Amino acid sequence: MEKVAGLISKDTVRWVSFIAQGRLKCLDVRPRKEFQIRHLYGSVNIPSTSIAGCWFQLPAKQEGFVVLEQDGTYIDDEEGDSCSEQLRQKGWKIEGSIRANTEFWQWIEQKGLIEQGESKRLLFEPSPHFKETIPVIEESLSKSEARALDIGCGSGRDLAWLCSRESKIRYKVTGVDAEKRAIYRFSSLFETLGYEDRIEHRQIAKMDPVGKWKCYNIEGKRDTNIPELSTLDLVKLFGTFSVTESSLQDEKYDLVVQIRFLHRLLLTQTDQLLCDNGFLFLCTFVNDGIHDYEYPKGQEHRLELGEAAQLVRSSSPSMKILKEEIGFIEDGRPVQVLLAQKQVNAP
Ligand SMILES: C[S@@+](CC[C@H](N)C(=O)[O-])C[C@H]1O[C@@H](n2cnc3c(N)ncnc32)[C@H](O)[C@@H]1O
Repeated sequence: MEKVAGLISKDTVRWVSFIAQGRLKCLDVRPRKEFQIRHLYGSVNIPSTSIAGCWFQLPAKQEGFVVLEQDGTYIDDEEGDSCSEQLRQKGWKIEGSIRANTEFWQWIEQKGLIEQGESKRLLFEPSPHFKETIPVIEESLSKSEARALDIGCGSGRDLAWLCSRESKIRYKVTGVDAEKRAIYRFSSLFETLGYEDRIEHRQIAKMDPVGKWKCYNIEGKRDTNIPELSTLDLVKLFGTFSVTESSLQDEKYDLVVQIRFLHRLLLTQTDQLLCDNGFLFLCTFVNDGIHDYEYPKGQEHRLELGEAAQLVRSSSPSMKILKEEIGFIEDGRPVQVLLAQKQVNAP
């Protein structure tokens, strides 16, 4: 053991210890088959050849991480640099590179840090405010299976995180976004993680300024089979096509998420999306009167203080605001964090 350990650099020893404790992330860029045969406990595999389509799965650029690589793993064959160097040049904070050579695997095996098969860990983090709020929601959801809808879902990272957690609740998810690229990424993320069976629906759909939804097919073309829909009809579309009013309750959502997405009319329809005791989690840009920031520009994408709660309350007297705070995203921009519940049977 001493002999092999002597061949391992001090940096690698330190990084592996941090990775094993969950204090440092490790991206393994070897081919998937090799990762499945053996990998370092705590590491996450994105093969170098797939990284170019998976930037959104990497940690935030300001968060340092380690790359585990072997000779011959490049993102782009035309650039001669190693994968870790290429990532560094693209702006990621690479703490260092672990060379996956024979001595390394012998040492890792001796330390009992070898895993086999797939890994369901994530390199990215969800919205920190969402992460912080989920326990509050789950405490009150007295079911083992729940339906979650993310509107303006982007690549689906928050929903993927939701599914990845150890929880008493198994989530079935629906992602809606106006961009076909977003829905493509959403699908690829869930496929990579092996969570495809958690997807109820994924839909390219855009809510227009007057509150009508237009649906698009996977090529991004307007789906002429689906007329313009109200929000209630969109929910029905995602349920069965033959719902009766009395069964519609089951077609609604336990959790509706809107993160860095704002459509004021939609907030005034919140109760139409939620089942009894269902939750809305909103986290989007706000003019807090203190911080100046450039993007997103314009009133359309920024709330005023107190506005979100007012819009949500206007959807129904049963909507109760449980949390209304100003938070900040990684780059310091202020966001309105709101948690509301449809409390139908409240006294
Ligand atoms: C800033 S991104 C946020 C994505 C994701 N929620 C997140 O926090 O990473 C906003 C998303 O909302 C989508 N979007 C913007 N306007 C929309 C609309 N009117 N209807 C549906 N989606 C829209 C965009 O395509 C984009 O993916």
